[in-house]
Amino acid sequence: MCVSDPASMTLQAIEQRRSIRSFMDHPVSEEDLLTILRAANQAPSAHNQQSWRFVVIRGQRKKELVDLVKAKAGEFPKAASVLLRMAARSIHSAPVVVVVANTGELISHGTELFQIERDQALDFFKTMEIQSSAAAIQNLLVAATSLGLATVWLGILFLIKDDVLRLMGEQAGEFMAVIPVGYAAKPGKAPKKIDFEMMVEWMD
Ligand SMILES: Cc1cc2nc3c(=O)[nH]c(=O)nc-3n(C[C@H](O)[C@H](O)[C@H](O)COP(=O)(O)O)c2cc1C
Repeated sequence: MCVSDPASMTLQAIEQRRSIRSFMDHPVSEEDLLTILRAANQAPSAHNQQSWRFVVIRGQRKKELVDLVKAKAGEFPKAASVLLRMAARSIHSAPVVVVVANTGELISHGTELFQIERDQALDFFKTMEIQSSAAAIQNLLVAATSLGLATVWLGILFLIKDDVLRLMGEQAGEFMAVIPVGYAAKPGKAPKKIDFEMMVEWMD
């Protein structure tokens, strides 16, 4: 495989993607933002429902998010509080932040379609929505890497999800993640990963 062929470029981006928590004071172009959002929207989704929404926040709304996260951090025990403060710093330093929410549309669509017991349907389709949005997020992260952009998937804001969604004006749906996007302040260090052989079992 030659390094400029699309397959090897995709693999390179997957390999090179790192969680970056501190960003340069440098804007992300509208074109790059649209490219990574389009890549996210190309992800597989259960019943092809694309049950995700992306809210792109910058400027004053981003500042309000930082203030919210800092204010709420004090309400949690140390470990969560430290992670929330770290998240606030990442959001502050990134020029743009993408908030991902699940719409809940798959839950209502699937519950009607499958006519299975309500609790089972809720559990099933909620899980399918989370998995679909996770695929979209990974597409976004890898696409960003391939454009030289840095990102971090912030799940810790789940702890204050209702406040975050309220700030986004998103009444319906479920919080999924917050993703600061920008240019890395310094190169990401690869964390030690468990060898993939440990994760795979082969069966014939
Ligand atoms: C579901 C999920 C939630 C995460 N939440 C956070 C978070 O709240 N704060 C953070 O700094 N990193 C968060 N991360 C990033 C992980 O810490 C990171 O992926 C891991 O340490 C491996 O590093 P790498 O992404 O550079 O390979 C999250 C990642 C995932 C997939």
